[in-house]
Amino acid sequence: MTNRTIDELAANLTALPRPTLMQAPGTDPSFAEFRPEGHGMPSFFMWTLGCQMNQSDSEEMAGQLLAAGCARASSMDTADLVVINTCAVREHAEAKVIGRQGVLAELKRARPGMRVVLTGCGVRESERDGLARRFKAVDMFLRPDEEPELGRRLGLVSAQAPIGLRTIATAATTVVGGRPVSAADRLAGARVSALAEGRVARSSSISAWLPIVYGCDKTCTYCIVPFSRGPERSRPFDDIVAEAASIASDGYKELTLLGQNVNSYGHDLAAETRFAHIETERSAGRRLDLHSRPDLAELLRAIDGIRDSDGRPAIPRLRFITSHPWDLSDRLIEAMASCESVVEHLHLPIQSGDDEMLQRMGRQYSVAHYKERLARIREAVPGIAVSTDVIVGFCGETEKQFQATMASLDSIGYDTVFTASYSPRPGTPALRLADDVAPEVKRRRLNELLSRQEKIGLERNRAWLDHDVEVLVDQVTPARRSLAPLSEAEAFDDGRSDRVGDAAMGEGSVALAGRTRHNKLVHFTGDATLVGHSVRIHIDHAGPFALRGRLVDSTGEPDVLA
Ligand code: SAM
Ligand code: SF4
Ligand code: F3S
Repeated sequence: MTNRTIDELAANLTALPRPTLMQAPGTDPSFAEFRPEGHGMPSFFMWTLGCQMNQSDSEEMAGQLLAAGCARASSMDTADLVVINTCAVREHAEAKVIGRQGVLAELKRARPGMRVVLTGCGVRESERDGLARRFKAVDMFLRPDEEPELGRRLGLVSAQAPIGLRTIATAATTVVGGRPVSAADRLAGARVSALAEGRVARSSSISAWLPIVYGCDKTCTYCIVPFSRGPERSRPFDDIVAEAASIASDGYKELTLLGQNVNSYGHDLAAETRFAHIETERSAGRRLDLHSRPDLAELLRAIDGIRDSDGRPAIPRLRFITSHPWDLSDRLIEAMASCESVVEHLHLPIQSGDDEMLQRMGRQYSVAHYKERLARIREAVPGIAVSTDVIVGFCGETEKQFQATMASLDSIGYDTVFTASYSPRPGTPALRLADDVAPEVKRRRLNELLSRQEKIGLERNRAWLDHDVEVLVDQVTPARRSLAPLSEAEAFDDGRSDRVGDAAMGEGSVALAGRTRHNKLVHFTGDATLVGHSVRIHIDHAGPFALRGRLVDSTGEPDVLA
């Protein structure tokens, strides 16, 4: 793929057919008195739970409301409209929202004009009948694939706030495992319309999200995502590259490509002669014909090929999440190694270190396959940081099987592990298995795993001591109140314990934080104007969850771990 200029690529985005302005039909009648006629546009508050995909979806929904003339409210208490973008991955995530229904009902009683919309993975077609009973304060429910219709359904779409025809294109409800689920098809078109009309309200001006594939085709038996988000649908290659180019021309420093399984990007797109050189085959599990179709490797190369006038990648850091070990091809590993902007970090969920458990989880790979892929990546990208997801206490997990997971943590040496106890989810295949690991055993295993990983994480972080790293500064953080010894709770937090103490703060400095290319959280002090810049930090403290250091140069340089 030859390098193309940002302007050339961004032109593709703006050249896309612009939708006709229209007064959209199909407005929800229950919102009649909520409409802007006769009074000001409603203010809104978005409460986003769950993963990066939800955060990206919320950026699109907020963009619709802002384009319609609504303003953001600073809290739920003062908003005319509350949009809750839910997560359903574990029962706890849904319970959090159910637990707020009483407060929301109170607010609505005090301010009868207030409305609540519930969106995201908690809204599943198969359970639509029970939604109103579970979420009592909610006026409208939208599945993830219906989110582009938010403004229209609220009746907030008008001539001042055009909404595209492509946005409201209909798509049939699809069926996964015999159940009707939402269709991801229309999201790709809706995204293009939203971008062309400036209706994506990105939450950061430093790092941008870019969805490349919607839904999930995998069959992990514990997981609700395929039921919430429907089957995999890849966005067209050129749409993604054009969006990346516009992100580059807007000056973003970091871009994260999003999907439940970004490694399978492109398998559902049409074969094209321009991709005839792509001959990838899936290396494990059900075979797929991937010939002449774009893949994630091709996308990384294309985005890395967007250059600035000095010939450097226009977006300095390129990330992608999440990778499924099943589809991790040699082509992808080669692209990771050869693209300058692709960071030295990979999130590769293992879920369990035992083959029988993996099989029961429907993961389609063995521990040996996982380790073989990882060894190849580590050979191609020396020093790469690796993070993972683990579920403890899945159906039938014996002590020996749990210990196999612990042993994998030791042998692999992860930088970060995200772990949770198994939570049975409605409609998933695992409901046919007994959830037979007692809650106290799940809890004990979870704590054991967290404390083992704390030691491993600390060891991994210590390797950075006395090294210089490039930090992309993304926030001013509150400093730790003092340098007093930390409580046990603080020691277990996500790096707060490694923050700079007030005593270490110089005149005119603030506590700052950012990430390295290896995704390490780094705390240091400096001028607030450094936010959004890459700086060089010398690391002089390593904790289990974060690093701390001092500013040596206001221009960053690549990190190299010997
Ligand atoms: N697509 C990613 C993958 O293949 O690993 C993961 C996406 S999922 C939304 C994020 C994580 O949630 C999973 O990796 C898994 O560890 C966890 N998870 C999913 N379902 C779960 C369940 N029923 N109970 C506990 N954890 C769960
Ligand atoms: Fe869920 Fe598995 Fe899909 Fe990840 S790959 S979203 S865990 S079904
Ligand atoms: Fe949750 Fe849906 Fe993401 S279930 S983790 S918000 S894909």
